[in-house]
Amino acid sequence: MNEVLTVRDLRHRYGGTVALDGVDLTVRPGECVALLGPNGAGKTTLVSLVTGLLARQTGQISLAGGDPRDARTRRGLGAVQQSIGFPNTLKVGELVAGAAVRRGASRGAAGPVLAELDLTSLANRRAAKLSGGQQQRVQLGMALVGDPALLVLDEPTVGLDVPSRRRFWEILAERRFRGAGVLVTTHLIEECSEVADRVVVVSKGKVLADERPDRLIDRITVRSVVATTTLADDRLAALPGVLSVNRDGDEVHLGTRNCEQVLRALLAEDPAVGGLRVEGARLEDAVVHLTEGSLV
Ligand SMILES: Nc1ncnc2c1ncn2[C@@H]1O[C@H](COP(=O)(O)OP(=O)(O)OP(=O)(O)O)[C@@H](O)[C@H]1O
Ligand SMILES: [Mg+2]
Repeated sequence: MNEVLTVRDLRHRYGGTVALDGVDLTVRPGECVALLGPNGAGKTTLVSLVTGLLARQTGQISLAGGDPRDARTRRGLGAVQQSIGFPNTLKVGELVAGAAVRRGASRGAAGPVLAELDLTSLANRRAAKLSGGQQQRVQLGMALVGDPALLVLDEPTVGLDVPSRRRFWEILAERRFRGAGVLVTTHLIEECSEVADRVVVVSKGKVLADERPDRLIDRITVRSVVATTTLADDRLAALPGVLSVNRDGDEVHLGTRNCEQVLRALLAEDPAVGGLRVEGARLEDAVVHLTEGSLV
């Protein structure tokens, strides 16, 4: 197999806390895998092990056939950590050029990446003095420069404004198209669903699902009937077929496995009902249902 990342039965503890409880994961060249899960699920622990920041306790990690604790192996890796501090003295351009050289590329490789991330005008500024979102873009630049075979990005979109986030997902799609493998953790689930080939859902250190985003959504059979109505919540909850009632502003969302039944009952109970529509599940719903244990 030409996998760029293979993780087998990875387990990790911090004292008495089990952070990873037997994780298997693969990323192939040109594949984007999104790692999703609630706070404390073990995502950063996994990323830190894969990027060689944390020493492995039990299990196997192969990064393009090598050990991530080996500096030569890490040359093929571009990483964004969840929390990082830049040294006080270094400028943006120096940091990205330095990352290029460490990866075996020329310092000149920094220029196009700085431009791509809209950092050219900040190249002579000290990174430590930049805003949060700007610093995040510098981290991205350091990860992307020199075209590493594997990108491992822990919450890379944190602090980015909307245009920067869009740009980020475009850049990721383009790197993946050029053959890079990508492992990305994010809480912006809907954004990743367009780029991710596979979604790996983790909770309490275990993998709960590893499949295509659309397949994960298909596992949710509950849809929502959305309406504006004067009926009280308890009457709505009593309608045949209604599983849940949630308010969102003027609208009410009725969860159901039988939209037709709910629509008929709603029209019969409230002839003045308005704004009717039916909504399918989103990837976010699938992940929440899965990690809260209410799916299948
Ligand atoms: N250095 C540490 N020392 C002790 N416990 C830790 C340490 N780092 C993480 N943990 C614990 O390990 C578990 C997994 O944490 P981790 O940071 O990997 O989660 P995460 O999925 O990245 O969460 P988030 O979405 O909040 O970033 C949590 O219970 C956390 O409290
Ligand atoms: Mg984390």
